[in-house]
This record gives sequence, C-alpha cells and structure tokens, in this order.
Amino acid sequence: MRYRRNKYATLDNLIKMGLLTDDSLKKTNNILLEVGSGRGKFISSLALLNKELIYVAVEKNYNACYQIMKIKENLQIDNLFVIRDDCINIFNYLEKESINEIYINFPDPWLKNRNAKNRLVGLDFLGLFYSLLKKGGVLIFTSDEKNLYDEIILNSLAKQFKIREKTEDLPIREIMTEYEIKKRLSTNIYQVILEK
Ligand SMILES: C[S@@+](CC[C@H](N)C(=O)[O-])C[C@H]1O[C@@H](n2cnc3c(N)ncnc32)[C@H](O)[C@@H]1O
Repeated sequence: MRYRRNKYATLDNLIKMGLLTDDSLKKTNNILLEVGSGRGKFISSLALLNKELIYVAVEKNYNACYQIMKIKENLQIDNLFVIRDDCINIFNYLEKESINEIYINFPDPWLKNRNAKNRLVGLDFLGLFYSLLKKGGVLIFTSDEKNLYDEIILNSLAKQFKIREKTEDLPIREIMTEYEIKKRLSTNIYQVILEK
C-alpha cells in the first residue's frame, strides 16, 4: 500500500506520541497482535471495543504508524500499542509464547518470485508467528489473494499449525480493514484460522 508522505511522521514525533520502542510488554502475556496494520482502522476498532485486552500493531511504514498513533491519541486508546518495525524484529519487543491471537489482514502480495521472501505467508515468517503464539493461540489470515491463501495453508502444515477454519468467501464482518472495504467490491475474501 502507498501512503501519503507526512512530514510529522518522524521517529522523534512517533516516540513523543508514545510509540513502543522497548521490551516493556515482555512481562505481559495476553496480547493480540496485528502484523502490517496499515493506518490502523482494524486494530484500533478492536481495542476500543475490548478495553480490557492489550492490542499491539506492528507496522513498518512511518506514515502509516503516524496515522495509527493519531487515532490512539484522539480516541485515547490506552490498550493499543504501536511498534514501528519490520515484524521480523518482533522479539525485540515481545516474548515468545505470549500472544493469544495474531491478525494478518491483506498483506502485500509480493507476486514476483524475486520478492517471495517478503511474503508474510512464507515458512520463515510462519515459524516466527508460531513461536510468538501460546499453545492454543490462533493466527487469523485474511486476504483477497487466493494464491497467498493457498500458500499459507500449505506452509502452515509444515510448521505444525492446525487448520481450525477456512473459507473462500468470508461474509462481511463487523470490523473490516481499509483494504477489505475496497477489495470486497470486486473479489471474494479468503480467510484461514490456524491454531498452534
Ligand atoms: C496492503 S497493506 C494492508 C494494510 C491493512 N492491513 C489493511 O488491510 O488495510 C500491507 C501493510 O503491511 C505492512 N507490512 C508489510 N510487510 C511488513 C512487515 N514485514 N512488517 C511490518 N509491516 C509490514 C505494509 O507497510 C503495509 O502497511
């Protein structure tokens, strides 16, 4: 996704706004994590609905993070934490086996073979997500890309995940992502729920 450049979306400003930059959540072990949150519509809506739970967004784009921090600030969502980083570095912030749910919503498809290593459905990323989850925790993957859906199902078996549910035509959900709202107009939405 392309984001409009915002001159205020600097590391300094994000830190002043409360960006998570350390491992202070390592002591917390009931966390719900979204990987690649974009501008944060999905995770901030969930956090607002469930104030008793701890939500974390990890997003590598500064401009997108700035938008999430703005929502957090304006709506005073104290149970939402934002990490500006590539999720490959997640163990700098969170502990293994500390996550109840991981959401991956409409990840970048990286269709060309030379970019395949960036796909969040690859074996290395799935291994990382598996380590993050508690036993019985789930990874909820949602996309408009059938090939990513097929790939994550195939790779999840190699990583010992169990397939709890899957659908190739996800009905409209109460909370949807920005991407989902656009994509639903032209295609089916695929979802698989993987359990550790
Ligand atoms: C296509 S956008 C979807 C955004 C949002 N989930 C939605 O559904 O509207 C994918 C997002 O994932 C982020 N992203 C991709 N790879 C990532 C990674 N390895 N770690 C963190 N964020 C990542 C991108 O910066 C982008 O904001």
